[in-house]
Amino acid sequence: MKVMVIQGPNLNMLGIREQQIYGAMKLEEIHTQMKAFADANGMEIEFFQSNLEGELVDKIQECLGEADGIIINAGAYTHTSIAIRDAIAAVQLPTIEVHLSNVYRREEFRQKSMIAPVCAGVITGFGPFSYHLAMVAMNQIFQEIKAIKAQQQQQQQA
Ligand code: DQA
Repeated sequence: MKVMVIQGPNLNMLGIREQQIYGAMKLEEIHTQMKAFADANGMEIEFFQSNLEGELVDKIQECLGEADGIIINAGAYTHTSIAIRDAIAAVQLPTIEVHLSNVYRREEFRQKSMIAPVCAGVITGFGPFSYHLAMVAMNQIFQEIKAIKAQQQQQQQA
């Protein structure tokens, strides 16, 4: 099964931007670690980053029929984008919201997520390890989907 990893604005600047908040690891390094987890667990994985809201919406829409789940760090759009929320709701794929920083320890405007209500869950505050935790959660969701499908097949055959 395939997971699409979608990274929003300024995440291409990881390793450079506000290191005291986001750490020193670059986005490519985080993706390398996620790919290793995917390979070890028989998952397919694809990565996408954009600074543009519409491109993020397009990518979420493209997931329909292309991916089985989404891991998304929508960056600042998390707190503002009804369009991204609607796209996630439209495709109805299990989606995990991720943040490097603990958004609940930060400014008040970061404590509201537009997308959390349409996500399976939220992982926030563990630095680059947040992405690893999201992969563990997505793997679990995939196992559950596979088990349900196997059960349905058995019932059809009976
Ligand atoms: C972030 C938190 C957002 O509030 C912020 O705008 C980001 C990064 C995080 O990963 O901690 O760009 O999503």
